[in-house]
Amino acid sequence: MNRLICVIGNKGGTGKTSITHMLCHGLGLLGKRSIAVMTDNFREPLSREGRLYTPLDGRSPEKLEKIVAKLETMPDWYGVIDGVANHPEMDQRLYEMSALVLLPFRDSHEDIRTVRNDLDTYTRAFGLPSQWPTNPWQQMAAERTLDELMQDYRARLLDPVYAVSCSKLLLHTRIPPELPTVLGNVCRGLAWQVLARISPDE
Ligand SMILES: Nc1ncnc2c1ncn2[C@@H]1O[C@H](COP(=O)(O)OP(=O)(O)O)[C@@H](O)[C@H]1O
Ligand SMILES: [Mg+2]
Repeated sequence: MNRLICVIGNKGGTGKTSITHMLCHGLGLLGKRSIAVMTDNFREPLSREGRLYTPLDGRSPEKLEKIVAKLETMPDWYGVIDGVANHPEMDQRLYEMSALVLLPFRDSHEDIRTVRNDLDTYTRAFGLPSQWPTNPWQQMAAERTLDELMQDYRARLLDPVYAVSCSKLLLHTRIPPELPTVLGNVCRGLAWQVLARISPDE
């Protein structure tokens, strides 16, 4: 499906859930409608209230299938599916049905080892540096790590999503009525680069 995006990868804690919501929030700020689909049985559904996008529960295969079928009838909408770590079979299915596949990873050797494997498995997918340092020294160190360990994959990396502690506000059951400007900026930047890859003509 050409407006379906999935955020997957074998490692936990890389930022899949946060990136799903940040991307949908960013799309909303750019005037695009989207749904954020949860597939993790260990998370609670989130309220729609006050959000610029619609969170939906896709935790059972039947629900997920219904949501995807419904999306096909809604050509203006984007769907972002939040995957779960250590579910390679599910990831493979999401990979096959999505137009754009994002593999978040942090600047740790452990995350990088996993994302390299995932990039080899999912050959159309993009690596997305996540929770990226904002401090200049740490940023330089993270860049060096990428040079050392990800040089062959550089062309398949998107621009980083920076660490912003207020990103967790989007994961509250109900989000606060006002969100910090910095969060909007990071989310918009992410949405821009996703749109450029998914629908370059718009
Ligand atoms: N861009 C970010 N800035 C700051 N903290 C983040 C960011 N992305 C994720 N986190 C934090 O990292 C932890 C793991 O993120 P989460 O999105 O739940 O990862 P996953 O879904 O891959 O397990 C959470 O505590 C979350 O708040
Ligand atoms: Mg998650």
